Amino acid sequence: MFRPDLLKDKVIIITGGGSGLGRSMGERFLQLGARLAITSRNEEKLTTAASEMTAANGGEVFTYPCDVRNPEAVEQMIDAVWEHYGTVDVLINNAAGNFISPTERLSHRAVDAVLGIVLHGTFYCTLALGKKWIEAGRGGQCLNIVTTYAWTGSGFVTPSAAAKAGVLTLTRSLAVEWARYGIRMNAIAPGPFPTEGAWERLAPTPELAQQAIERVPLRRVGEHSELANLAAFMLADEVSYINGECITIDGGEWLYSGGQFSQLDRLPAEMWDMLSKMTKK
Ligand code: HXC
Ligand code: NAP
Repeated sequence: MFRPDLLKDKVIIITGGGSGLGRSMGERFLQLGARLAITSRNEEKLTTAASEMTAANGGEVFTYPCDVRNPEAVEQMIDAVWEHYGTVDVLINNAAGNFISPTERLSHRAVDAVLGIVLHGTFYCTLALGKKWIEAGRGGQCLNIVTTYAWTGSGFVTPSAAAKAGVLTLTRSLAVEWARYGIRMNAIAPGPFPTEGAWERLAPTPELAQQAIERVPLRRVGEHSELANLAAFMLADEVSYINGECITIDGGEWLYSGGQFSQLDRLPAEMWDMLSKMTKK
């Protein structure tokens, strides 16, 4: 799909890059010539992922453990990557925390856990790197991984919905404010892409996992490679006029949920024969 040097020598930081979608994006970026830095809380997971990723794809993966809820740790992480590679071109704000629960069952600590990772963590990483980009007189790009309920909201994942809405607004606000420094801000809103981290917290039973498919008009979940290709496309210099945009990749899921008659796609042809007799004059 892409020429093999599409991202050649671009230095890309991926938060939550040792597992799930962050890792899948990282693998694709390596294949396209990028130099990676991956960060998350679990150091052992990061080092294992880095050696597996380079063994499979070549290239270099620098690891640095960091809890994105801690602003000092974030600054140290950004400094360490900058020192290691001499610069940074891209930040992928991908780390997230989430789980299903009726909101009235949550403690304030549960709310803080999710908002801290998703909204504050994204803001801290963006701010720490943005300051360095501005000081160095060079541009860069942030690509924030949100989700479609950033604009619809969703019950039972309310802290995540509030945090992702905040990240989307952060994306759009800084796309305008920091464009004068050559810093671009974009987002991707994925629909359901099975990962261990998301599925064990959001679809822990076979019934809930099946429901994730039934809401999608294409009747399937996303392939990690599809999301990784979209992310690579958005990082390419050839599309660098994209700024402040959020691209959805969800098989039509969120539009399906909003259309009052969408579920008629389940009616068999015989039922349509009967209905047309009733509705046609
Ligand atoms: C209710 C819960 C809970 C649950 C934790 N808490 N899990 N409350 N239901 N299922 C509460 C705890 O009781 C505690 O409150 C508080 O939250 C903090 O919990 P800790 O376990 O101490 O927090 P921590 O170790 O920091 O872990 C953070 C976490 C955890 C968010 C709770 O799930 C995590 O590490 N997640 C990272 C990975 C992840 O979530 N991946 C999924 C992303 S998927 P008390 O009051 O008891 O102290 C995603 C998809 C979006 O974002 C879109 C899908 C379509
Ligand atoms: P995942 O595998 O659970 O990934 C989350 C990553 O974030 C992990 O690598 C985790 O690593 C890291 N992380 C969590 N808390 C952190 C913290 N405090 N500091 C630093 N890193 C932290 O989930 P995923 O499904 O790949 O999700 C990736 C992104 O896609 C998220 O932004 C999610 O909201 C979004 N998304 C996913 C789906 C889906 O269907 N999977 C749908 C829509 C949106 P550690 O545990 O080592 O810290």
